[in-house]
Amino acid sequence: MTNFTLQQDEKEKLFQLALIARETSYSPYSKFRVGAALLSEDGTFFKGCNVENASFGAAICAERTAYVKAVSEGHQKFKALAVSTDQVEFVSPCGICRQFIAEFSSPNMPVFFLNNKGEHKEYTFGQLLPFAFTSDDM
Ligand code: THU
Repeated sequence: MTNFTLQQDEKEKLFQLALIARETSYSPYSKFRVGAALLSEDGTFFKGCNVENASFGAAICAERTAYVKAVSEGHQKFKALAVSTDQVEFVSPCGICRQFIAEFSSPNMPVFFLNNKGEHKEYTFGQLLPFAFTSDDM
């Protein structure tokens, strides 16, 4: 069973990485930088940023970048996710990302939204996507 209680140092590192991750955002079209940080069950951190494309629909969100990096390195269980933007408002994962996250994350997993002041809000993934469709439904 995954322990979703984060140590203070884990939380601080997660937030720091989510903020840093914005710096490599490739977002020349939207000019909307997003950073994500993901903490795997074994304590490994992954960063992700949004990566856009001249064919707009091919853009990949920061959250999915982080998950794909982690899963492709052999990590499939996660303790926490943090998402940051340059806005003062808190931004939450888009619908496609929520479905993607549901494949690898429990409804109990904490998800943090960070704004450009470094302030945060905390939710559980289940609050973001109740009644998620997963392999359990098939
Ligand atoms: N974006 C993310 O990276 N994550 C989200 O949850 C919302 C949207 C990106 C996609 C696109 O590069 C830009 O933000 C504007 O939609």
